[in-house]
Amino acid sequence: MKLKINLDHMQSEFIIKNKKLATSILIKKNYIANFIKEIAKKNELVFCVIDSKIKTNLNISKQKNLKFIYIKCGETIKTIDGYRILTDKLIKNNINRKSVIIAIGGGTLGDLTGFVASTLLRGLNFYLIPTTLLAQVDSSIGGKNGINTFYGKNLLGTFYQPKKVLIDIAILNSLPKKEIKAGYAEIIKHALIKDYSFFCWLEENSSKLFKLNKSVLEKAIYESIMIKLFYVKNDEKEFLSNKNSRAMLNFGHTIGHAIESYYKYRKFNHGEAIAVGMVTEAKISNYLGLLSNNELERIIKHFKKYELKIYDKVLNNKILIEFLSKDKKNSLNNINFSLINKIGSSIFYKKLNKNKIYKILQNI
Ligand SMILES: NC(=O)c1ccc[n+]([C@@H]2O[C@H](COP(=O)([O-])OP(=O)(O)OC[C@H]3O[C@@H](n4cnc5c(N)ncnc54)[C@H](O)[C@@H]3O)[C@@H](O)[C@H]2O)c1
Ligand SMILES: [Zn+2]
Repeated sequence: MKLKINLDHMQSEFIIKNKKLATSILIKKNYIANFIKEIAKKNELVFCVIDSKIKTNLNISKQKNLKFIYIKCGETIKTIDGYRILTDKLIKNNINRKSVIIAIGGGTLGDLTGFVASTLLRGLNFYLIPTTLLAQVDSSIGGKNGINTFYGKNLLGTFYQPKKVLIDIAILNSLPKKEIKAGYAEIIKHALIKDYSFFCWLEENSSKLFKLNKSVLEKAIYESIMIKLFYVKNDEKEFLSNKNSRAMLNFGHTIGHAIESYYKYRKFNHGEAIAVGMVTEAKISNYLGLLSNNELERIIKHFKKYELKIYDKVLNNKILIEFLSKDKKNSLNNINFSLINKIGSSIFYKKLNKNKIYKILQNI
């Protein structure tokens, strides 16, 4: 089936409808309260699962059929315990098969709530209102949900699309700079793997993005989403292993996830870990002769300009290799990487075993 994207560009409102995935994405400012009201009008019982940090930012009017569950968010909620606590609360509050769930929060809340929505009562309709930049440009798009286990990130999960995603940049006003940087890391990732001109545009415009300039921010979010959708529509369940594979979106994540797991999700947030991961994987690309010295330097310069993390000492520690072995993309003894062969172009690389990677990490 062919993907059809309708784009209405009406000043500040973009609607991206994705029929193949039965989901639609709306980018619209100051719209959260209305969005929830509309859903409440059409459904008998609506559960809003909300990141407790943004409780006071939302101006949602009280309605009988709206129930609220607040969660203190962070990577630690993406666990079997987090799953049990949320499902227990929903069941205790009489959730039924006609109920819908709205997840309002960052990527951790979205991943957990999406997983709950896809499994509870064999699947319920759910909506996403991402409230971090990272969630707006990445985690709310594409229908991957899940939680972590002791052995690694996102090892329990489902592919399950939200009915609708609302991206409202007004909610980012309260987001700490550290979290804006984390989201920016995923934006650069999209540019690096797929779109050279977007990378050049970011080089020109990103200082305004960090000041939350509306048009720059909305364009960066929009371009990021379109790149992510390109991979999702080609390979929703990540079956391919070529340059169109959804796995390309994991550039920086093989190393990044290993760093996160090694530090038990405490030292770095996801964006920081994958920033280190991207620079390291760009260096690996360069070491393997795929990426030129000039392009590598240009990438590192950009990361430094916006003070993104580029290095951590664990990269030289052999133990990191053990954490790499748990990656979902692995096959037999080799650890698979999504690498870049120039800015704006990525490839699937399957030829690296543990010893080789350790050797490369000692030499870059
Ligand atoms: N499903 C996917 O396709 C996908 C893609 C990328 C990342 N992820 C996952 O996303 C997660 C990271 O998401 P994240 O960076 O949003 O983390 P997060 O959900 O932990 O949010 C970061 C911090 O910001 C706070 N916060 C959220 N919204 C806020 C707001 N508007 N104002 C102030 N504070 C706010 C949260 O309470 C938290 O402390 C990781 O678990 C990662 O694996 C998933
Ligand atoms: Zn990511």
